[in-house]
Amino acid sequence: MCGIIGYVGEQQAADVIVDGLRRLEYRGYDSAGVAVVNGGIHLRRAVGKLRNLAKSLATEPIEGSLGIGHTRWATHGRPTEPNAHPHVVGRVAVVHNGIIENHLALKAELQAAGHVFASETDTEIFSHLIDRALSQGCTLEEAVRAATAEVEGAYAIAVLDVEQRDRVVVAKQQSPLILGVGQGETFCASDIPAILSHTRDVVFLEDGDMAVLTREGFEISRFETGESIERPVTRVQWSAVAAEKGGYKHFMLKEIHEQSRAITDTIRGRVSLEQGDVFIEELGLSADDLRSMRRIIIIACGTSWHAGLVGKHYIEQATRIPVEVDLASEFRYRDPIVDERTLILAISQSGETADTLAALKEAQRRGARAAAVVNVIGSSIARTASNVLYTHAGPEIGVASTKAFTTQMTALYLIAVRFGRLLGTLDADRARVLLRALVEVPGEVSRAIELNAGIREVAHRFQHVTSALYLGRGLLHPIALEGALKLKEISYIHAEGYAAGEMKHGPIALIDEHTPTVIAAPRGPSFDKTCSNLQEIAARHGPVIVVGDEGDEQLESLADALLPVPKTTPWTAPLVTVIPMQLLAYHLADLKGTDIDQPRNLAKSVTVE
Ligand code: F6R
Repeated sequence: MCGIIGYVGEQQAADVIVDGLRRLEYRGYDSAGVAVVNGGIHLRRAVGKLRNLAKSLATEPIEGSLGIGHTRWATHGRPTEPNAHPHVVGRVAVVHNGIIENHLALKAELQAAGHVFASETDTEIFSHLIDRALSQGCTLEEAVRAATAEVEGAYAIAVLDVEQRDRVVVAKQQSPLILGVGQGETFCASDIPAILSHTRDVVFLEDGDMAVLTREGFEISRFETGESIERPVTRVQWSAVAAEKGGYKHFMLKEIHEQSRAITDTIRGRVSLEQGDVFIEELGLSADDLRSMRRIIIIACGTSWHAGLVGKHYIEQATRIPVEVDLASEFRYRDPIVDERTLILAISQSGETADTLAALKEAQRRGARAAAVVNVIGSSIARTASNVLYTHAGPEIGVASTKAFTTQMTALYLIAVRFGRLLGTLDADRARVLLRALVEVPGEVSRAIELNAGIREVAHRFQHVTSALYLGRGLLHPIALEGALKLKEISYIHAEGYAAGEMKHGPIALIDEHTPTVIAAPRGPSFDKTCSNLQEIAARHGPVIVVGDEGDEQLESLADALLPVPKTTPWTAPLVTVIPMQLLAYHLADLKGTDIDQPRNLAKSVTVE
């Protein structure tokens, strides 16, 4: 994980870097640091949140307009100041995101040659290798190239040399890195929001790229061959404001409220109610391509995997093609049965999740056709898949995913209808009915948020619980899993999500008066069965919180608390039912005073396995 940033220009580098790191803090937040070249290398590092570094810099500023910075999520070495980046050795300072796989062998070799290590990190290897090459007369660019030839693993690095004061040199291999192009200033960063307040013109580096950044611009080359290469400058449409809190107490709350807009943007321009069809040519699949597919495998992690589980229902119902949903981390290690008649759909908000990316590559290696549903434009998964359907959620900063999830389900809904129409398994009338229901969802999501204005009261009543069960059936089973995940990751309350029909096969033993059950029970095909579960729980004195239709008197009489949602259709129910679950988790966490946007031990973008 970790976030890196580099700057060369006219402004005070430390200010630009700390501002950028603030927007990258979601990637890791156990320590942070900055190095600025001005005469010598001025290094400042602090353990804990970025504010500790910012405070230290405010008390004792570092001046200079060339610098690099880092926010860390520890992989090698505890979160201590010596392990915080940048790592300075001799003439160079290095920041790194990724993992060096052969670090033990390289470290032993360097130590045998007399190098002394100041940290427990793998990153320091880079500093030693680059400094050694510089002392042998290499330019900074040559030294970085020499280091990349020795290092195996994943890295995005930014490097400063005290004797070449006009440049930052960067290299990328399997970890994200973009360049930002300004007027008389150039940036590099792990992610777009870090530089958005300065420029919207970005360059996405590819694996194997290195670049020299100066005030005048940048030059990219391949580090294996030294050959120069052009990469296009892309204008990012996200505004800097979209990456700010906008008056909300937390990014997560802001992002929950943005869902109506995000779903609208994901649907926009892709649906024709008249024709009963969906236009997503970017997926690049013809009817013949689809007919040749024996099955579809969705690969994803965490919340994106939950979206995949919903997508399975949509796609199987619309196409009758069997769909499997695999955890990316499991898929790649179980010798999966995949060939050219398998369609892979990778789902990822960040587009950088290491397991999803590796699973995607593994499937491609085995001959599968691979498409992806991704939020971050130009991210690694987006570039690796043959075709991409972007969710238009905008930047998601809160570590707990909300708007990315609902837009992923929206995208899968569109894919299912499109595939069904292409194959002829869905006629235009049925597609029209489904699409009409989908275009109502943004309004229903807003209504669900309004209806749950009083949800904090419910959270108050349950704020001392230590464990909760979440139940749902069919399309709402993944919503139970997602509700439970949201609760545990931000409030640290233990929660289990189950298919409601499984309750009697084990989890019912957990029910007592201290363990609430949250049940997704809007009216729909399995309503009566879910109601029976509800009664079974109540009979065992278990408190029941029901997410159900507004005004449903039967539910009101049975439940300890009803979290109302507007009436909707079975296919759109997951999109609407998840809203009160997100809000409940948010308010419980807020009442407990946890760090909602940056929960302990987590990072937004899991770029290590
Ligand atoms: C949970 C959450 C994670 C991510 C998972 C995959 O709220 O955000 O479970 O869903 O790490 O991330 P992406 O979608 O970026 O591949």
